[in-house]
Amino acid sequence: MNIISAQYIISSPSVDKCPPADKAEFAFIGRSNVGKSSLINMVTDRTKLAKTSASPGKTQMINHFLINSIVTKNVSQKWYLVDLPGYGYAKVAQRQRKRWTKMIEEYIRLRKNLINLFVLIDVRHKPQAIDLEFVNQLGEWQIPFTVVFTKADKTTQREAASCVKAFMDKLDEQWEEMPSYFITSAIKGRGRKELIGLIESLLQQTSTMFSK
Ligand code: GTP
Ligand code: MG
Repeated sequence: MNIISAQYIISSPSVDKCPPADKAEFAFIGRSNVGKSSLINMVTDRTKLAKTSASPGKTQMINHFLINSIVTKNVSQKWYLVDLPGYGYAKVAQRQRKRWTKMIEEYIRLRKNLINLFVLIDVRHKPQAIDLEFVNQLGEWQIPFTVVFTKADKTTQREAASCVKAFMDKLDEQWEEMPSYFITSAIKGRGRKELIGLIESLLQQTSTMFSK
């Protein structure tokens, strides 16, 4: 799949303010600072499309990016990539955190054109309760998702493999069927091909759902 263009469309404070749900949509979610915005830039191969920051809590709304890509046989297809605020950031006021939680939950549960959610997990850490709870919640809501381990360049292959295994083992305790996962580095471009490949095949599978 070849991405012809990628442009920022709008930042929405709630799901009902989002653009019309008339195109396939993929969203990135995960704890604050895990690398959601960086991964959107990596996937689209644009360094400054989504705003990134070294300090957590940068992305505060539901951000839509319109992507135009050639999927098959020179046929172009438009779809949305969505950058969401992080969950579980301790340093924002409780009221703000509650507002973000509600925003994220309503977006995930009500957005009709959401094809797949990418749940980002920092590959350097042992399984965190907040991530496991989030993923298990997605199961209850029956939201299709893929786990994306981030920042692989910041650790050794061996440590990354051990953290991935620990996380997937935890999921195995709760899930009958295991979700698929990727290991990525936004800095090195690792995992880009796999991520784009999945998006491409999901776009093909769902193309009849969207007439435009
Ligand atoms: P919020 O919007 O605040 O929730 O954060 P986010 O999840 O969008 O994270 P963001 O992409 O802003 O990245 C946070 C920090 O991690 C930035 O300093 C990035 O440069 C850094 N970062 C993100 N991905 C990678 C990666 O793959 N490797 C390395 N080394 N650093 C990364
Ligand atoms: Mg962000």
